[in-house]
Amino acid sequence: MSVEMKFDVTVASIITPDDPSAPDLTTLNGRIHDLLDEWLVGAIEALTALDMASAQRAWNCVVWHIEAHHSAEDELILCHYEDQDIEDYPEGGLPELFQAEHKRLRELMDQCKLELDRIEQAPPHKQRRCMVERLEVFMRVRRLLEHHGLREQTHLYPRLDAKLSREEREFIAEELEAASL
Ligand SMILES: [Fe+2]
Ligand SMILES: [Fe+2]
Repeated sequence: MSVEMKFDVTVASIITPDDPSAPDLTTLNGRIHDLLDEWLVGAIEALTALDMASAQRAWNCVVWHIEAHHSAEDELILCHYEDQDIEDYPEGGLPELFQAEHKRLRELMDQCKLELDRIEQAPPHKQRRCMVERLEVFMRVRRLLEHHGLREQTHLYPRLDAKLSREEREFIAEELEAASL
């Protein structure tokens, strides 16, 4: 099965909410992050198989979705979260930390793109070693995205679910899903 085919199957099976009448932003963000992680692993899988055409295509797709998700969060989520009194933020839950992680992920993904090009351009007999030497930065993206998603699930989204009206959550859920997927 190609990477693109796997994406289509996964989108259809994950984004459908169990109960569309009760939007829960924490659950939705968790589903989006599960999907982003699956796509990320698919891209790394293609890279470690040295299927460079698939790896490049899958990586571009992953980056597009992560960027789209972060932009939607910057626009739709953090503005509501920043409404709170500053003393009220939990440790590890400051808005600037989430923004800093979005920025750091963007930097790491740019570095990954450069490394992908280097691996693709390496002589065939050196390509596997070149991939092994550069694999760590791809795993760093995965670890940071996982850490970032966990902090969102612990600090950010539950507070918004508790604070926002049902209508606000419905609007944000629709926009977040459309932008991220
Ligand atoms: Fe998120
Ligand atoms: Fe985020």
